[in-house]
Amino acid sequence: MEHTAPLQVSFENLSYSVKVRARSKHDGSGSGGILGRVRAPFARTSYEDKTILHGLTGTFRPGRLTAILGPSGSGKTTLLNLLAGHEQSGTVTGGIWVNGRPASGASLRLLAGYVSQDDVILPTQTVREAIEMSIILRPPPLSTESQETSDGIAALGAAAGLRAAGEEGLPMPVSMEVPRPAQDAPKEGAAAARRRGKDAHVEQTGAHAIALLGLGRCQDTRVGDSADKGISGGERKRTAIAQEWVTQAPIMFLDEPTSGLDAYSALMVAKQLKSIAARGRTVVAVVHQPSSEMFELIDDLLVLLEGRIVYLGPRAGLVDYVAALGLPCAMYSNPADHIFNAVLFAHGGVATPGSRATTAEHADQLQLMWRQSEAGVQLQALVDGPELAPVHASQFRRTSPALAQLRYLTWRGAQNALRNPLVINMRLGQAVFFGLLIGFIFLNTDDRPADVLKQNFSGALFFVATSNFLLAVLSVVTAFAGERLVFLRESQGGYYALPAYFLSKNIIELPIQVIMPIIYSSISYWLLGLRHDGVKFIVYTVTAIALNLCGFSFGLFLAATFEDVSAVMTALPIMFLPFFLFGGLLVNTGNSTVWLRWIQWISPIKYGYTAIMKNQFAGFYIDGQPVGDAYLDAVQLGPFSVGVNIVFVLALAFATWVAAYLSLMRLARKSSGIHSRSRTRKLRQELEGPPDARFVARDKGADTAAE
Ligand SMILES: Nc1ncnc2c1ncn2[C@@H]1O[C@H](COP(=O)(O)OP(=O)(O)OP(=O)(O)O)[C@@H](O)[C@H]1O
Ligand SMILES: [Mg+2]
Repeated sequence: MEHTAPLQVSFENLSYSVKVRARSKHDGSGSGGILGRVRAPFARTSYEDKTILHGLTGTFRPGRLTAILGPSGSGKTTLLNLLAGHEQSGTVTGGIWVNGRPASGASLRLLAGYVSQDDVILPTQTVREAIEMSIILRPPPLSTESQETSDGIAALGAAAGLRAAGEEGLPMPVSMEVPRPAQDAPKEGAAAARRRGKDAHVEQTGAHAIALLGLGRCQDTRVGDSADKGISGGERKRTAIAQEWVTQAPIMFLDEPTSGLDAYSALMVAKQLKSIAARGRTVVAVVHQPSSEMFELIDDLLVLLEGRIVYLGPRAGLVDYVAALGLPCAMYSNPADHIFNAVLFAHGGVATPGSRATTAEHADQLQLMWRQSEAGVQLQALVDGPELAPVHASQFRRTSPALAQLRYLTWRGAQNALRNPLVINMRLGQAVFFGLLIGFIFLNTDDRPADVLKQNFSGALFFVATSNFLLAVLSVVTAFAGERLVFLRESQGGYYALPAYFLSKNIIELPIQVIMPIIYSSISYWLLGLRHDGVKFIVYTVTAIALNLCGFSFGLFLAATFEDVSAVMTALPIMFLPFFLFGGLLVNTGNSTVWLRWIQWISPIKYGYTAIMKNQFAGFYIDGQPVGDAYLDAVQLGPFSVGVNIVFVLALAFATWVAAYLSLMRLARKSSGIHSRSRTRKLRQELEGPPDARFVARDKGADTAAE
């Protein structure tokens, strides 16, 4: 197909450095003495640059499977992250190009799929659901959809040795015709038919991916996590690969796709990657310890040591190159092992283990030798004269429409909640428990003398206001803490945009935040013996709901703002206790310290408490005396009516809800590098534009030939 231009990724002088904390001068018992040590924590922390990648020049060619090899800590993941646009913390220098067009990690992200070293998948999803989610939310680029995913998949399977694998016992596509859900049957409109067609496509592609990666046996098993064991580590890895495979991105980066797999499965995965590359795509994978058979599948090899390139070129040329260095590979040994044992760690016999300077020098030497070698010169020519075919708009990765994202995420969220019933059951348990507890502690308060009654009602209502707010905060903090990594990984992977995620989260939580306070109020109101009046009961319940909504937004805001649960748990009391103190019961807010009094105006507890207090005491007679209004005057709960107070609670809920959204947006942009729409458009235009002048000038002949 004309639109599937092969994409060549090149980089020149690519360096990457991060800032790390400099080792403190006050360490140990040196000159600083006691004074120094006391001052140390307050001294300005100084940072120093740590260079991880040192001036890398190279290229990844389309139609070839490139493997990155190197010892642990040599910078393989860093290089892959940088090219896939998943690394933001450090400083990048040097150039990156796609088919001669200036690019960056951020723009490559629009073209490339990425399987990270640690995959995070929602634990309650099954393998099949996780793969189908990827197909639904990240449809393949337009250029490949018709070509590959509908009719070409069988060919791809065959090319990947699926038939042979099937004979050897690898599961074949199992259920090509999964029974339709019953509710879909009656709707027979055009839209429904289209949807069914779409679903069939999703099922088919999903089934193929499952078969290709040998996931048949665990396709209906939940993914699970460390706390709740599900599929095995290797199966999770293959699920993550399948999730990327189905998107048919023109470039694929994979970090250790074969680690944790047995030799046979690893070979199968490598064969899949090879067949993907064979269809004209650019596939780059970090591999550890490739077997001899897997090694034979590799087209190009990049060997990294200490962030330097020791070799980059055809796999077949490695043995000759190493022999030219005077370190010939024995006939029956695995060249991949040989390069580690004889070249990377040999150090010419001079280095002592752990001496970094020597290792770095050694790596520098090797990088220089490689650059000057014939292979190095050939590679430089490839970098200088890259593939120049234009990047076509249809090659960019696609996302599904916002409404489809919302629908899918809401469905998944509901399913997640139902599969994780402990959370809902705990919430239900809390509502019933606290309803009964407070009900029985203050049982029949209305029969007591006036003073006792006033004190007890005030206390009980304050507890009701506080607990409604706090229970909602805690439930959302714990729920989001577990989902945070999943959210980051998925938004990084381009599964969905924040608005859809945020709205779906609200749609799932809303019923819970409404039903729980209704249960809580229904139990507590009548046991407490509050005024026997239907309208007052409704006001009491509505206030409780408003406080729950406010707690929900507040919790979401905290969870989105702070990096981990322990930080949230430190921040929570700091922000919550002032609200609690100025809630209207503990301090007579009308007489409190003037310059702190403003806190009451942002305390949702104060507004909620005031609403239910006025609801109870306004026009309240005790023993035939109209003492209610006088009591309200004494406790000074402010001039606003019940309704206005409830509106204030809702307004605070809305304000924190907006703050939570903004905080989540910041989180997504900061830790996963999601960009605004205008920035994305600019990056696309750059890739679709003309190639860099230096390539056109140098490569005029090739350019005219391409036209
Ligand atoms: N943000 C960072 N801050 C400080 N050091 C870092 C940072 N990122 C990477 N490093 C360091 O850079 C080096 C390369 O890390 P990288 O994760 O790329 O290694 P790797 O080759 O993928 O290793 P492995 O095979 O173990 O996965 C390591 O020494 C690591 O400690
Ligand atoms: Mg790594």
